[in-house]
Formats: sequence, structure tokens, C-alpha cells
Amino acid sequence: MIDFKKEIASMISECTQINNEELETYIEIPPDDNMGDYAFPCFKLARTLKKAPPIIANEIKENIKINNKIIDKMEIVGGYLNFYINKDTLIYNVLHEMESKNSKYGKSNIGEGKNIVIDYSAPNIAKPFHIGHLRSTVIGGALYNIYKYLGYNVIGINHLGDYGTQFGKMIEGYKLWGQEYNLNENPIEKLTDIYVRINNLCKEDEDVLNECRNNFKKLEEGDEYCTELWKRFKELSLKEFQKIYDLLGSSFDSWNGESFYTDKMPEVIEKIKASGRLEESEGAKIVNLENSGISTPIIIEKSNGSSTYATRDLAAILYRARTYNFDKALYVTSYEQNLHFKQVFETAKLLGLDEKYTNALEHVAFGMILLKTGKMSTREGNVIKLEDLLNEAITRAKAIIEEKNPNLDDKDEIAKKIGIGAVIFNDLSNNRIKDEIFDWDTILNFQGETGPYIQYIYVRTKSIMDSAKEIPSAKEININELKDSEAMEIIKLLYHFEDILLNVINKNEPSILSRYLINLAQAYSSYYNSNKILVEDIEKRNTRIYLTYMVGNVLKIGAKLLGIEMPNKM
Ligand code: ARG
Repeated sequence: MIDFKKEIASMISECTQINNEELETYIEIPPDDNMGDYAFPCFKLARTLKKAPPIIANEIKENIKINNKIIDKMEIVGGYLNFYINKDTLIYNVLHEMESKNSKYGKSNIGEGKNIVIDYSAPNIAKPFHIGHLRSTVIGGALYNIYKYLGYNVIGINHLGDYGTQFGKMIEGYKLWGQEYNLNENPIEKLTDIYVRINNLCKEDEDVLNECRNNFKKLEEGDEYCTELWKRFKELSLKEFQKIYDLLGSSFDSWNGESFYTDKMPEVIEKIKASGRLEESEGAKIVNLENSGISTPIIIEKSNGSSTYATRDLAAILYRARTYNFDKALYVTSYEQNLHFKQVFETAKLLGLDEKYTNALEHVAFGMILLKTGKMSTREGNVIKLEDLLNEAITRAKAIIEEKNPNLDDKDEIAKKIGIGAVIFNDLSNNRIKDEIFDWDTILNFQGETGPYIQYIYVRTKSIMDSAKEIPSAKEININELKDSEAMEIIKLLYHFEDILLNVINKNEPSILSRYLINLAQAYSSYYNSNKILVEDIEKRNTRIYLTYMVGNVLKIGAKLLGIEMPNKM
């Protein structure tokens, strides 16, 4: 498809002799239509050209050779040179690109040959899958899909929390009270209960605490009893987690959790030692990171010789660099782990890896999810079990369907798509770093900026397409019928779809796509409210059907990339 930005950059380049690519990075899309379609901020050149921005704008405007097929007119506003693109060319390009790419609209291969590791979800064994893990699963999953759509080779890793001193405690608790519990039903609740009990006992009794530490040590050394128990906890937990993944439609390329790195940690310690930075502190082995502006040291080995969460992450970096040769490695967790990743990424520089890898590490942090009534926390008992939450979303969606459209077929299937879609969309609808309030009425509002709203508009396009029977060919469309401002808004949005996907991966911010889908759905809704689609006039009719088809197609592709399924009816 034509790239207007590139075209404008090359026209400016011809008359200024400044490099195309540099110019392209300056060109902006103005927030407002009456400032043109593209704006060139001339103050970017003021320094090099030693002239005031309005003068530069004027000179470019006077000297530029405009291709009329691409640009209709130019206007100087302050230090900006604004470009209005040729509508015919724009519309023609969108129509034909849509026709040729169809359900692959926006797909590209710009990522070919690049490996992206995404570490996401990562719940902890024997603990509830909490709402923060849901957010990680949803954000990581959306990034996964979008990188893939752009041609990257993506490796999704579920770095399960299946190791650490807490397992020493679990084992001790199970030894003491295991026979009181039937782990075949609701195992996670019961394991959590045991965990709470043993934690309390540890606070009272130092000997028990030492016993727990010893258990983990034994587990690391491969002790049979400890390993058997640990395996059982892991199996039971994974079975529970899988129920959630099934509801969300999540899958992973690797399930190598923390325990996978047991035998890979000695090398990490060796390497850090060799760097001369390993220090002893109160019996533990640490690295002081003060010189890098991180005041808390990283603990590499505890005083009893056990490994830490951080060491396992360092071992994982070595392993992933070697196994996947990554060009980017993303870690999707809440901002509560900011310090952890700062420490780990800084310490990774001591592992003797090529800078290619250490520069490619990135923490994709997100905000907390708050209940309308306050924080959701495990300790205060204000927890929502995630499986219950997802099922409640489905039940509520079903109740809405029963009320609005009781005669619908496949109500359960549709309720599932709406309920789960609502929860997923909510997680992606704002800038990821923002804390988010979880409120049922907001997320399930069919008229709000929600998943169900996008599905609702999609279903509308779908039912029009069903009545229309077939999609007209792009050749039959009269471009002039699409030049009014409401249709143009849609055309422009459709044109920008691929750019939107690129922006998502540049910032690792799926909300850019979710906002876009809301804008597209709203733009179509306004169009639809002022234009009957299935009119008599065949030219108008074909044009409007085609517009409807394009909107539905892009809504569906976009939603799918976010992890949301579209119902055909609702
Ligand atoms: N299991 C951890 C938690 O629940 C998240 C792990 C994130 N990934 C990583 N490589 N550290 O907090």
C-alpha cells in the first residue's frame, strides 16, 4: 500500500537535500483534521539550516515538487508545513489493499529473521492465580500475537514460579498436616491454607523455619521425598491453571519455570565471581549495584547456599540468549517488580554475554488492578479467585443476553465470548502502567469503551453483510461516494491500521490497538447512524456495503490480535 509518509519525506528530501529517512522520522500525524493529514515540523531543521522554522516552511513550500496524485495542497501554520493528501489515491489504495489482503490486512514481514522472547503469565505453583497474573497473561498474549502478525519469530515463555524457599515451607506443612486435606478437590485453596498455617508456625518457632529452609535445600539437591511432593504440587497447580488458560485461549511455546534452571545456576555464580563483583555480606553472596544507581544489592545466593529468584532469572537470560538468540526479551509483570528487573538487567552485564543480548532486555511493566472497594490482596483475604471471576463474567454476559435477545441460538458460546472479551479488553484498554479499577458495570457496558461494544458493532456489520449476501468487488466502488467527512474518517483509520500495529510493538503497548478499535467502531457507528447502508441506488449501496465489510474485517482482525473472539450474533 502507498506510504504517504515516505512519499512526503522523499519530496521534501528532493528540495532540501536532507536524507529521506531522517525526514520521515520528523513527519507527524496532526491530532486534528483541519491541520492536514501530515505535518512537517520545520523547527527540527532550524538548527542545521540556521533559519527560523516559518522561513524554512515557506522555502520548502515554494520549492517542493508536488506529485498531484499524492498531495492535494499544503499550508503553513506556525513552524509547521501541513500536507493534505489526495483523497482518491488514499481511498483507492485502502480498497485494493483490503481486497487483496482480506483477513490478512495489516500483516507484514518487517520482523522476519528477528527473535522475540516474551516472558509472561508466570503464576506461582501452589498459590492462587491472581488478577496480576491475568493481566500479564493478557498483555503478554496480545504482544505475542501482534509481533507474530508482523513477521517476528516469537517465543512465549511461561516462567512458572515453581521453585524457591516457599516450597520448603509447603513441604514442611504437608508433612505436618497433609493427611487432613483431600488435594483432589480445590487443591490450590488447600495448599494455600497449608501455606498460611506453616507461615504462622514459622513465625513462632525458629526450629520449624530452619526445617523449611532445609527442605528447600534438600529439594535443590534432588532429595526423593521432597521432589515427589513438589512434583505433585506442581501437577495439581498446573491442572488448575490450565482451566484459566482454556477460558482465555492462552498457549505458550515453553513452560520452563524457575526450577528448570536448577542445574544452570552454578555457571551464573562462576561468571559473576570471574567478573570480580561477587561479594560476601552476612554470609550471603551479593553484587553491589550502587555505582549503577541501584541502592539495593542483588542477592545471588542466600546464606544457607540456596539460590534466589534473581539468580534463576540470570540463568534464564544465559539460557535464552543461547537457545533463542533473542533480539528482544520482554518481561511482562506488574511494576512491583521494577527493582527486581533493574537489578537483574544490570547484573546480566557481568555474565560475559554479547551486548546485543543485555541491551535487548526490557521490563514491560503494568499497573495494579483495584477493586472498586480497594486493593485486591492475598493477605487481607480480599481475593477473587480468577476462575470464579472469569465464570462470573460469562454468567453476567449470559444474563444480559437473556434480557436483550432471549431467542438467540448458542447463547452459552456467545456469553463466553462476550464475558471473556470484556475482561480481556478491560485489561488492555488503558495505558498499561496505569492502575485499573475493576468494575463489572463498566466492563460489560455495551455502549461504553468496552470489548462488548466492539463486538456489538462488529455484529452489526456482520448482519448487514449477511443481508447483502456478497462483498462487491473493489472495482465496483465509486470512490466519490466515500469522500464525505464521516466516510473519510473511517478510510483514514483503516489506512493507519498497520502503523498502529507498529506503534504497539515500538512501545509494547497493546492499548494503542484497543483505543484504535474503539475509534474505528465509533466512527462506523456515526456513519451508520447518518447513512442507510442497504439503499436502492446500486452504486451507493455497493460502496456502503464495502465500507461495512472493511470495518468488520479490521475489527475482527484487531480483536483477534488482542485475544478477543468475535460472536456472529449477540
Ligand atoms: N512468578 C513471578 C510472580 O508471580 C513472575 C515471574 C516473572 N518472570 C520472570 N522471569 N521473573 O511474581
